[in-house]
Amino acid sequence: MRIHTAVIPAAGLGTRFLPFTKAVPKELAPVVDRPTIHYVVQEALASGMDHIAIVVSPGKEALQEYFKPSAAIDHLLRTRAMDAVAHELQEMNERLTFSYPVQERQLGLGHAVLCAREAVGGEPFAVILPDDLLVGDEPVLAQMLRAWQRSPGNFVAVEEVPKSRISAYGVVELAPNGEIDSRTYRLQGVVEKPPADTAPSNLGIVGRYILMPEVFDSLAETRPGAIGEIQLTDGIARCMAYHPLYAYRYQAVRYDCGTPLGLLRASLEMALARPDTAAEVREWRKGT
Ligand code: UTP
Repeated sequence: MRIHTAVIPAAGLGTRFLPFTKAVPKELAPVVDRPTIHYVVQEALASGMDHIAIVVSPGKEALQEYFKPSAAIDHLLRTRAMDAVAHELQEMNERLTFSYPVQERQLGLGHAVLCAREAVGGEPFAVILPDDLLVGDEPVLAQMLRAWQRSPGNFVAVEEVPKSRISAYGVVELAPNGEIDSRTYRLQGVVEKPPADTAPSNLGIVGRYILMPEVFDSLAETRPGAIGEIQLTDGIARCMAYHPLYAYRYQAVRYDCGTPLGLLRASLEMALARPDTAAEVREWRKGT
């Protein structure tokens, strides 16, 4: 079975980036020279998706503007010897269809995903959080899709998290004998932000999911939690009544671009890894 749609929830308030987010969606903040959302759309494309559903809220129309084809920009890029960029944008527009479900009020990540129900239709789908940039040899979504083909169900991406930071994550609880292979685990539950001493594992959930369409019913039945938001993990846990739940421990480096310093680190490390920028960045750092 093939997955067509990647849902990218981008309707959040972005309070940690105020005052920047007064005027600009945080998903358009650049890492080196492309917005964070550009990288995650590329990951979806490289993983075989052909439909991107970006969940937006009123005031975030600039996201739609960003992915709109522009003959004038294409011409400008090509006349300024930026053909590679022109080609990248052209490929996105030729191979992907974009839709923009609206979340009128910020009622949580689970609610944002529920707003994409019509755009997804009754098929399995992926969810990608644009705050989490995952950089590796193979796109993480493609890694997860391979595991999903072998063991269909709901999938969450996980990484190993030090004990000192585990209470900031949704943490997975492995089923007895739940190891399917060295990266895939069957789960018996998830716990949102547990105290470090009672965390059921050291595997924290990161922003990539492959979900069965029944998750929408589960989300619709999920009541808001402590901070008045509908949590995606609550909906996924509820869906265990219909589908097995798995965690996939991906191979990639993660950059958390949800904070200004995380975004800076992503820019710095990615600039150091890129052949066209590495030498200049090394030069600045010599003096520090
Ligand atoms: P965050 O919890 O990081 O919230 O959302 P945020 O609004 O983006 O940023 P802060 O915390 O106010 O600084 C995680 C992801 O879920 C989306 C966000 O856009 C982000 O991609 N989200 C969150 C929604 O789409 N809708 C919501 O109601 C909440």
